[in-house]
Amino acid sequence: MQDDIAEILVTQEEIQAKVVELGRRISEDYRGKDLLLVGLLRGAIVFLSDLMRAIDIPVRLDFIGISSYGASTESGAVRLVMDLESDIAGRHVLIVEDIVDTGKTLAYLVENLRARRPASLRICALLDKPERRQVPIQIDYVGFVIPDKFVVGYGLDFAEGYRNLPFVGVLKEHLYKEVLMRGAILQRIQNYLNRQITLSELVAWARDTLAAGDLPLNEASLLQELIARVGEPGSPGFGLTVDDCADLLRRLGHEMRVSLGPLTY
Ligand code: IMP
Ligand code: MG
Repeated sequence: MQDDIAEILVTQEEIQAKVVELGRRISEDYRGKDLLLVGLLRGAIVFLSDLMRAIDIPVRLDFIGISSYGASTESGAVRLVMDLESDIAGRHVLIVEDIVDTGKTLAYLVENLRARRPASLRICALLDKPERRQVPIQIDYVGFVIPDKFVVGYGLDFAEGYRNLPFVGVLKEHLYKEVLMRGAILQRIQNYLNRQITLSELVAWARDTLAAGDLPLNEASLLQELIARVGEPGSPGFGLTVDDCADLLRRLGHEMRVSLGPLTY
């Protein structure tokens, strides 16, 4: 696992010291109030479990699960997958998150929780990647501001791996490039099936991507096969059959389902 790390960005010792400092600030700010810590599943649990022990006032704990569709290293549309157990009306709520990247996750969460009328609502995030921000977010307690690099460890994952590393490290690029490429191919095939792009556009994209070079071997052969299956424009058999698509998608770890419904205008 350590071999997959290009660089340690925040050491275990630095995290520890920061957690103590944040715990102290939070304890002072909320003294005499009843504080509810809301951890975002799953990335925040390591940070949260350390942070709560650095807080010396009584706290309660709850969790919320949020998931985002879209490519594997970027938030797409955000949705609630597991709700809080507690009623937060009139309570002092502190959201604890691992990292603020585009800000979409927290923007969604803040809006969602604010509607439940808590007495106060603040955010504590271990990491902040301000260069990537798309939605403005006020983070009340920040651990570390980091550059625009994909990081793992101390709760943060890549494809659900590396969460148990005790530090925050930068993942070696070749490891996530492959997954990103697979995501991109999947997306294009999906776009074609949903008629958002034409077959020619799909093939042109595949050719350009291949020509750009530096592709992982599996993904390169997938693209070559896609191009071969489509064939030449004008020649008999030009096109991509449903079976072709299903097969390509299967190799990307997805299955094709066809849904039928009445026409909507
Ligand atoms: P946002 O909605 O773009 O702000 O993204 C927040 C979520 O994306 C976080 O909860 C993380 O799960 C994930 N994320 C963003 N950047 C990274 C990263 O560098 N490593 C791992 N996960 C990340
Ligand atoms: Mg997360």
